[in-house]
Amino acid sequence: MTDSAPATYAPSAEFIANAHADAATYEKMYAASIEDPAGFWAEHGKRIDWIKPFTQVKNTSFEFGNVNIRWFEDGTLNVAANCIDRHLATRGDQTAIIWEPDSPEEEAKHITYKQLHTSVCRMANILEELGVRKGDRVVIYLPMIPEAAYAMLACARIGAIHSIVFAGFSPDALAARINGCDAKLIITADEAPRGGRKTPLKSNADAALLHCKDTVKCLVVKRTGGQTTWIDGRDFDYNEMALEASDVCAPAEMNAEDPLFILYTSGSTGQPKGVVHTSGGYLVYAAMTHQYTFDYHDGDIYWCTADVGWVTGHSYIVYGPLANGATTLMFEGVPTYPDAGRFWAVCEKHKVNQFYTAPTAIRALMGQGTEFVEKYDLSSLKLLGTVGEPINPEAWNWYNDVVGKGRCPIVDTWWQTETGGHMLTPLPGAHATKPGSAQKPFFGVHPVVLDAQTGEEIHATEAEGVLCLKDSWPGQMRTVWGDHERFEKTYFSDYKGYYFAGDGCRRDADGDYWITGRVDDVINVSGHRMGTAEVESALVAHPKVAEAAVVGYPHDVKGQGIYCYVTLMNGVEPSEELRKELRTWVRTEIGPIASPDLIQWAPGLPKTRSGKIMRRILRKIAEDDFGSLGDTSTLAEPAVVDDLIANRMNKA
Ligand code: WT7
Repeated sequence: MTDSAPATYAPSAEFIANAHADAATYEKMYAASIEDPAGFWAEHGKRIDWIKPFTQVKNTSFEFGNVNIRWFEDGTLNVAANCIDRHLATRGDQTAIIWEPDSPEEEAKHITYKQLHTSVCRMANILEELGVRKGDRVVIYLPMIPEAAYAMLACARIGAIHSIVFAGFSPDALAARINGCDAKLIITADEAPRGGRKTPLKSNADAALLHCKDTVKCLVVKRTGGQTTWIDGRDFDYNEMALEASDVCAPAEMNAEDPLFILYTSGSTGQPKGVVHTSGGYLVYAAMTHQYTFDYHDGDIYWCTADVGWVTGHSYIVYGPLANGATTLMFEGVPTYPDAGRFWAVCEKHKVNQFYTAPTAIRALMGQGTEFVEKYDLSSLKLLGTVGEPINPEAWNWYNDVVGKGRCPIVDTWWQTETGGHMLTPLPGAHATKPGSAQKPFFGVHPVVLDAQTGEEIHATEAEGVLCLKDSWPGQMRTVWGDHERFEKTYFSDYKGYYFAGDGCRRDADGDYWITGRVDDVINVSGHRMGTAEVESALVAHPKVAEAAVVGYPHDVKGQGIYCYVTLMNGVEPSEELRKELRTWVRTEIGPIASPDLIQWAPGLPKTRSGKIMRRILRKIAEDDFGSLGDTSTLAEPAVVDDLIANRMNKA
């Protein structure tokens, strides 16, 4: 198979006949969305309930120095009411959330829309009792339990802004996020069971709170019943308070542009930034993409395996599905516990129709053999999806053949924390899919390929360069929390007039997009985004480390691994113990997801004469591809490179 003629997989006639969009519908709707964005979104903005309907649709500018993004700006709504209350009359007894616990021995829960309403109202009243008001920030640090969804929706109900911190983050990372948005309250649990082990969330929160204002309160959900220390006046027992709390709570009237949540994400420089999403546009976009990309129909059981600590969990476990009145499955565990058949056991058990996961999980399971899949009846599956990183054709084919039995369209969805929802993806009833391609823009998305050097748009259909977006869409992030300048600088300054995503891409002769990966110093480890600068700053915070440079390198399962070049302080001897110590150090500074895979002792780092580290060279050495180092003539000390090559850690 050559690049110019990849295999394509067309949906069945039956799938097309039932789909929300076939090829002609996609073409028509897409054209309308680009020709007249305001007209298009005026119509589709009506898919949610407004308290006061909007009259203004789009007010956006990508002009550097003057970036402004507003959608539906004079409309008012409540996001929680859209995700719950408006469904009560028609589907109050339908299951909203299926919860599957970490251990298959424990019973799953089926939570109806009515029950969801009750729990969310109770949680909202508890938040108010603890002093949380409209506009206040609440940090959520919870396992994948229904209370995580209640907490999100309770914030939305009273107009508080949530900021979820993935339960795998360390106390230090948690503290930075609590302080970063000046949160009034953190919601956590005693412990988080995952893969048969327990993370002590409450004691992590205790450790984090030592570095926060002493007015920050802590609401604790009981998950395992494990022992926790308790500070009266600061810590509050959710389960006890819920017994007393009223289940009536009127939803607050929010402006479309009031923030719904902040989510911290890594960039190429500095510490993670707080991505801000607002209420109206975000919800319209999350709901519409959920319906079309997954071809979701009433009554379907939909499962996204992400964690609510990431944007995928926000848009495609909670907000998108619930706004559509869907049944959404929430899974507490991991794909390999108790064994590598768990995903498929859960699909069979709950008769899952749409299944959405990450390439890294597929690659890990692929390595375990097909028996784990074949044991289960997967005939309920209609559609498969992937997200988070490019999917290699081998993994795509395994997913298609072994899991989908060749009858489920696969949607490879490219998007980002910043975009709020899917940007590039095939629509399953409209496009013949191609392994490894994210293919087509969603409605209202205007992708362009720019020449990385000149910044000029490449108009030819076949093109390769950096991926940018030419105009706004309703789900776009609005700002960086507390730092609009950083927002403009990060996304709108490299290529003036465009939103720059940070990814490279290729457009083929059919106009299909192929993401080639990040072009900045962001790496993607198991679908988790990591700024190399963050790992570097954790390393240099260690007393024995003088200098560090971190790059990604190809990793069979994780996609990319974390490769660290470390220069030790004068007189410090390198050793295996020190390697271990540094690994543990980074895990405590950031969290297990940032654990270095390879640490190379570097007597020196390749630098330009002006002192800039030449990462291009470090990347090549880490990739074991040092034959093509390119121009090294600007190096201050060329001999440094020979040493690094000789002692590289990733030898083939
Ligand atoms: C980065 C965004 C969006 C939710 C999960 C990650 C990479 C994401 C794909 C895909 C190739 C992808 C990009 C992007 N990425 N999806 N289908 N194909 N690359 O969100 O943590 O904000 O990371 O993930 O590099 O920029 P995120």
